[in-house]
Parts: sequence; C-alpha cells; structure tokens
Amino acid sequence: MYLWNIKIVAGTLLLVLLLGVLYSSIFQSHRFFLVFENKYISQLHRNGPQPDFRTHDFHFEVPDHLQYKQPSILQGRTDVVTVTPWLAPVVWEETFDPVLLDSIYRPKNMTIAVTVFAVGKYIMFLKNFLETADQHFFVGYNVHIFVFTDRLDDVPQVKMAVGRQLTVRAVPSYSRWQEISARRMEMIQILIEEKLHNSADYIFCLDVDSNFHNHWGAESLGGLVAVVHPGYYEVDRSRFPYERRPASRAYIAPEEGDFYYCGGAFGGLLQEVHLLTKTCRTNFEADAKEGIEAAWQEESHLNRYMWINKPSKVLSPEYLWQDFKPRKPEIHIIRFSGVIKNYALIRPNV
Ligand SMILES: *[C@@H]1O[C@H](CO)[C@@H](O)[C@H](O)[C@H]1NC(C)=O
Repeated sequence: MYLWNIKIVAGTLLLVLLLGVLYSSIFQSHRFFLVFENKYISQLHRNGPQPDFRTHDFHFEVPDHLQYKQPSILQGRTDVVTVTPWLAPVVWEETFDPVLLDSIYRPKNMTIAVTVFAVGKYIMFLKNFLETADQHFFVGYNVHIFVFTDRLDDVPQVKMAVGRQLTVRAVPSYSRWQEISARRMEMIQILIEEKLHNSADYIFCLDVDSNFHNHWGAESLGGLVAVVHPGYYEVDRSRFPYERRPASRAYIAPEEGDFYYCGGAFGGLLQEVHLLTKTCRTNFEADAKEGIEAAWQEESHLNRYMWINKPSKVLSPEYLWQDFKPRKPEIHIIRFSGVIKNYALIRPNV
C-alpha cells in the first residue's frame, strides 16, 4: 500500500515535469515562429512583392528643429466638441497646425485620389470645382482627380499645378437622378479595384456642385473619414433624415445613430472606402430587389454604414457647408460648400 502511494506520487511528478518541458518547448517554438514572421514581413515591405493595397505608414516623423506654436492640453476650442465618444478627432479650425501636419505628411509622397460625378447638367459645376480644388485641396500633394461623366465633350480644360492629374471616365446617362446617386458607390468600388489599389493612398468622394473656399489638407486624413452634415448638427437624432422603414437595409431607429453625415463628402484609406462602397452597393441592390429605395439613396446607406463602422476621423461642417446657409459663430472658416442651385434646371426628373 505504502509502495503504491510512492509510485503514484513519482508518476504524478514525472507527468508534471513532462508537461512543463512540453509547454516550454511549444512556447519557445511559438516565439521563434513569431520572430521569423516579423522578419519575413519587414523584408517583404523592403524589397519583396507589394501587398494588394499600399500600406500606409502611421509613423509621424517631423524634421529636427521645426518651429511651431506650443501645443496645450488645457487651452483650445471650448465652443465645440473636438473628439467623439469613440475617441475619433472632430476636425475644426484651430484644432490642428497645418505646417506641422505638412511636415509629417508631405515627405511621404502620398497620392490622394478624388472622385467626382458630373452627370447630365451637373457638368456645369465641374469647372469651378476643379479650379477651386487646385487652389485649396491638398496643395503640394499628388492629387489624382477622376471625373465620371456622360458628357465627355463638355469636360472643361483646367490648368492644374504640378503633381496633379485628371482622368475622365465615361458613364451611361441615367434618366433618374436617384439612379445616378445609387450607382456612384458601385463605380467608386470598381475604380478602386481596377485602377487605384496600387497607385493611391487615400481617396475622397466629393460632390461636384460644391466649391472649395479655404484650405482642405492633411488634417482630414484618416482610416475612414466622414463629414457632419451642416443641416443637422444641432438636431436631435430622432429627427435626422435617416431611412426609417425597418424593411430597408439602411434602417436606423429613432433612438440610434451618432451624427447625420453628408453623402457629398467622405473618404479615407483605399481599403476602408472600398469596404464602404461595396457594402453600401450590396445593401442598395438587395433593397432594390425588394422594391425599396432608401430615403436619401446612397446617403442613407452611408449613414447606416458609418453608424456600425465608426469613422476614425470626423470632419466638422466646415468641410461641407451650404452656400444658402448663413454662417454660424462656431464656423470660423468654410472650406468646401455646396452652391445654390435650381433643381428644376439640372435634374432630369424632380
Ligand atoms: C512621388 O510620387 C509620384 C506619384 O506617385 C511619383 O511619380 C514620384 O516618382 C514619387 N517621388 C519620389 C521621390 O518617390
């Protein structure tokens, strides 16, 4: 009996020892594996084949001895909120230093792609859009503007600064403006897949019937970027013009949602905008099959997407104002603004 007990104790000890050896050897090989993989990844980046999307470097290096105003964590804008509850910055004038940002972002030699749709009579807005973009939008960066239009002959000749390019893509003429709006997501998705994935870092999708009035630059860069709509930032969310029919894939309940975002300006890293456009397009098409069109088409689907997939940077209404709206005290600068237009004149149907 006594001998038997000793055997059990000895056996247990041996088992514990064996398990210990086994555990440490697995742990070690796991560590080796990780080290190996890290080496492999850094080599890939240096000289190997490129991944599908350009990987953006989030390392913020500034030149030695760069002079700029001392930052403070005590003093700043007090009339507006500059961070969301999920800790995304909300960009307002005086919350960033453009010189400091340019010193970080310019050396990265990134390319910013822009999509703009000038279908039907909206072509009349293209000249001012392009000319003012040249003066204010990412000045000093590589900017590649893609114009989608059914009026190839009416695309204006606009002189653009060095490093800026314009590409025109033909689209069919649609009879309903709702359809033009709906197909934009699909066209942006295809553009990213076919053309941009290796030639741009960020993309912004902007409305053509708007002009730039002031600086719009690197402060707007982020993974997923949305602009708060100038018409609804003082309004309770139950009164946002979200899609309210539960049957639609763009549905948001009255007690849900963060902000009402603009369909006329959004952007971010290519992979983020690719996922957004793909999702919105899929949901739009599934709705259409069931005979549902969301209240504000792509804008409704975009708002639903941005509610579930929070933007990593939120741009204040400075980034898409409306010319007909009187300026409010918290709006210290208007960077981009929708022109006053007569819908009856420019839309194929109203
Ligand atoms: C910067 O980017 C542009 C556009 O992608 C490219 O043509 C140029 O060669 C790049 N310059 C440097 C120094 O990498």
